[in-house]
Amino acid sequence: MADSSAAAGGGCCRCCSSFILTLGFTALFMWLSLRTSKPVCSIQDIYVPPLNKSENSTYYKIYFDLKLDNENKDKGIYYDALNLTFYYPPNLTTPIGNKTFPGFYQGHKKNARRKDWVEVHGVPWPAAIKAAANGSAVFRVDLATAVRFKVMVWKTKRHKLVVGADVQVNDFGKKVYKKGVRLTSGAPERERYHARTGLLLLVLSVLSLIII
Ligand SMILES: *[C@@H]1O[C@H](CO)[C@@H](O)[C@H](O)[C@H]1NC(C)=O
Ligand SMILES: *[C@@H]1O[C@H](CO)[C@@H](O)[C@H](O)[C@H]1NC(C)=O
Ligand SMILES: *[C@@H]1O[C@H](CO)[C@@H](O)[C@H](O)[C@H]1NC(C)=O
Ligand SMILES: *[C@@H]1O[C@H](CO)[C@@H](O)[C@H](O)[C@H]1NC(C)=O
Ligand SMILES: *[C@@H]1O[C@H](CO)[C@@H](O)[C@H](O)[C@H]1NC(C)=O
Ligand SMILES: *[C@@H]1O[C@H](CO)[C@@H](O)[C@H](O)[C@H]1NC(C)=O
Repeated sequence: MADSSAAAGGGCCRCCSSFILTLGFTALFMWLSLRTSKPVCSIQDIYVPPLNKSENSTYYKIYFDLKLDNENKDKGIYYDALNLTFYYPPNLTTPIGNKTFPGFYQGHKKNARRKDWVEVHGVPWPAAIKAAANGSAVFRVDLATAVRFKVMVWKTKRHKLVVGADVQVNDFGKKVYKKGVRLTSGAPERERYHARTGLLLLVLSVLSLIII
């Protein structure tokens, strides 16, 4: 009698743990297929004519080439309006210029470029020209927008995307390095979120192993 009830209890426990295991794997699978990566934003090029020592240009504009990469394997991205703001460090209180591009949709594994001139005001040009000769002229570029991901047929909620970078400019008014400068956020929000979800899944799997 005691044996049979123990056997019945064991059967129920096995059934229960395999249920939990299935649940765990389903959760893991869903997490793997639903997780999203924010687009990679970078400044591919910058040209500042007044800093080009080969010409005494008074064309007070900055040319820029912004690249947006959707690295998700199977998720599209809906961008809200893209707000670009330019600063001449260390003055980060008053922007020297800004540009806004309308929102758009980007398919998976696609990249988009936004190239334009932005009018700038309040740059201390003589100091900037000296700094450029010194190899220390830097412009700050900030991008603020929000993105929604297209997962299969539905759209996720909006995720804020606020990133920026310092771009070094030489005495020809050109961006110093050929390679793009990646715009990054101070807080790696996505990684933190992913780490938390990953930890939860780990705890779940260990728990189901203990139960077995
Ligand atoms: C700098 O100015 C010179 C003379 O106008 C021009 O030939 C050159 O292409 C400019 N440099 C860059 C990086 O555009
Ligand atoms: C730029 O202007 C300075 C002085 O105003 C002059 O000495 C120099 O030759 C000019 N350079 C060019 C490339 O025009
Ligand atoms: C953005 O630039 C426009 C001119 O292009 C200017 O009128 C506006 O004040 C700027 N906005 C900010 C927040 O700097
Ligand atoms: C930043 O630049 C603006 C415009 O040129 C100026 O009015 C302001 O005083 C500057 N702020 C600092 C902290 O240098
Ligand atoms: C040029 O560089 C030196 C050392 O790298 C620095 O001390 C100096 O302030 C710089 N000058 C300008 C005008 O940026
Ligand atoms: C972008 O700029 C527009 C107009 O100034 C503003 O309404 C919008 O909230 C800004 N978006 C972000 C993400 O800052």
